[in-house]
Amino acid sequence: MKNVLNAPFVVEMRRCCANMYRLGWDERNGGNISYMLNEDEVGEYLDLDKVIREIPLGFDATALIGKIFIVTGTGKYFKNVDADPACNLGIIRIAPDGKTAELLWGYEDGGKFTSELPAHLMSHIARLGVDPENRVVMHSHPTHTLAMNYVHPLDEKKFTHTLWEMCTECIVVFPDGIGVLPWMLCGTNSIGEATAEKMKEFRLVVWGMHGIYGVGKSLDEAFGLIETVEKAAEIYMLTAHLPRINTIKDEEMVELAEFFGVNYRKDFLNL
Ligand code: 13P
Ligand code: ZN
Repeated sequence: MKNVLNAPFVVEMRRCCANMYRLGWDERNGGNISYMLNEDEVGEYLDLDKVIREIPLGFDATALIGKIFIVTGTGKYFKNVDADPACNLGIIRIAPDGKTAELLWGYEDGGKFTSELPAHLMSHIARLGVDPENRVVMHSHPTHTLAMNYVHPLDEKKFTHTLWEMCTECIVVFPDGIGVLPWMLCGTNSIGEATAEKMKEFRLVVWGMHGIYGVGKSLDEAFGLIETVEKAAEIYMLTAHLPRINTIKDEEMVELAEFFGVNYRKDFLNL
């Protein structure tokens, strides 16, 4: 059996959490990640018949029975993941009852998965329905995106449109736009259900006055989506209080989307 600490998926998670922490997106225990793994790959590192503990999920994840995820721990600091992955991360498999997580590795101090697991697993289910290749759900509190929540209408069309105007690449990177939820109590099944509903339509979902969710086939893809939104939000926050004398016009966004061949939300433009 190979050493799980050297497994590519553990190394990737360590690097990703460290990166997100250094970007200031994940203060204290802010943010969480779940990454669906390939059973054969995990089997090279862990005995899949050895369940360390069983942890109740508190919601129904029947659609994910047998699926394995590496997930950040609740209350754990992204800052510390790199130095101590076995305490701050865990590898879980959804048990045959669909309501229990079987711990295969990690959470070594007796901890458990993120409090946002309902939003993560419900989003995985929703995204797999749209894109069978989806593997990652990522939640974070990026500074400028969050700042923008306080000064910009929390309206999907307006929020997306403003960000599309901020960087030329935006409409190409997230042509499907951004779903927006109002402030809701986090860590609940209700916010999980609301997030998953948005995920049927969007790969990015803003949680009003809280943070953002991004998804993708890989950690890079989910990270890149959030990174692009955060960059655009930063430009917005740097310019929102100044007279705007130039902008990317809607006709130019159409040009971009057509040139790069992306399927964009035409109803999010004002043409
Ligand atoms: P966890 O520590 O449970 O992952 O919660 C962090 C967070 O960002 C809540 O939304
Ligand atoms: Zn959060």
